[in-house]
Amino acid sequence: MSDTPTGKLSGKLRLGINIDHVATVRNARGGSYPDPLRAAKLAEDAGADGITAHLREDRRHISDTDIDGLVEHLSVPLNFEMAATAEMQAIALRHKPHAVCIVPEKREELTTEGGLEVARDENRLAHFIAPIRDAGCRVSLFVATDMRQIEAASRIGANIVELHAGPYCDAFSEGHFDVADAELVKLREMSTYAHGLGLEVHAGHGITYDTVKQIAEFPEVLELNIGHFLIGEAIFMGLQPAIRKMRGLMDEARA
Ligand code: PXP
Repeated sequence: MSDTPTGKLSGKLRLGINIDHVATVRNARGGSYPDPLRAAKLAEDAGADGITAHLREDRRHISDTDIDGLVEHLSVPLNFEMAATAEMQAIALRHKPHAVCIVPEKREELTTEGGLEVARDENRLAHFIAPIRDAGCRVSLFVATDMRQIEAASRIGANIVELHAGPYCDAFSEGHFDVADAELVKLREMSTYAHGLGLEVHAGHGITYDTVKQIAEFPEVLELNIGHFLIGEAIFMGLQPAIRKMRGLMDEARA
């Protein structure tokens, strides 16, 4: 999660592990087990380059206490996902995580659905991210593979765009391969486009062993953020083997 000078591509593709759903399992019983921080430390040991956690407005998975623990104990960078609200801005400014990824958030959704409407909300978002960036955090905007959103992200001074991989990954896993192919083309074209504007390019949402290599092949993509699938695989093979397998597939694609 180091800075990448504009115009240069580093070979290493970073893997950010999203631990939200460890908290989902914990919260199903309302206690303290399983602990997302313990999962984050195991992920670090298995080679994660960063940890991602989404503090939702309704606190349905990650809690404020989880964020405190991650900030205090992680050895790798924290990518703090949050909605563009005053409450979350205050939390980000208090903790100053390595990166802040702004996502759209609706109470009724099961997970982050679309990308952020940067173009429509440009003025407000510009003012919203300025103090976070000034505090030394890398600001990332989670956007659809849409040129308008990427251009707006660049105009308002975001450091990073995280491209929404969900439309590709979901179409692929549902067997709609024509749609998946078209979505993959958009991911490739928008990675190149965003990189050309000087933005660092990440991708995330819905990535599995079956879809990771196709995205990891794009040289402009410097980081993948992956959660739900790996926490699911952890049930069957353990968290660290699941992460190592994902890392191996990323490395194969990049080689
Ligand atoms: N990136 C962003 C911006 C997200 O909102 C999410 C889901 O919280 C992820 C990555 C990880 O997605 P998944 O859990 O589907 O791997």
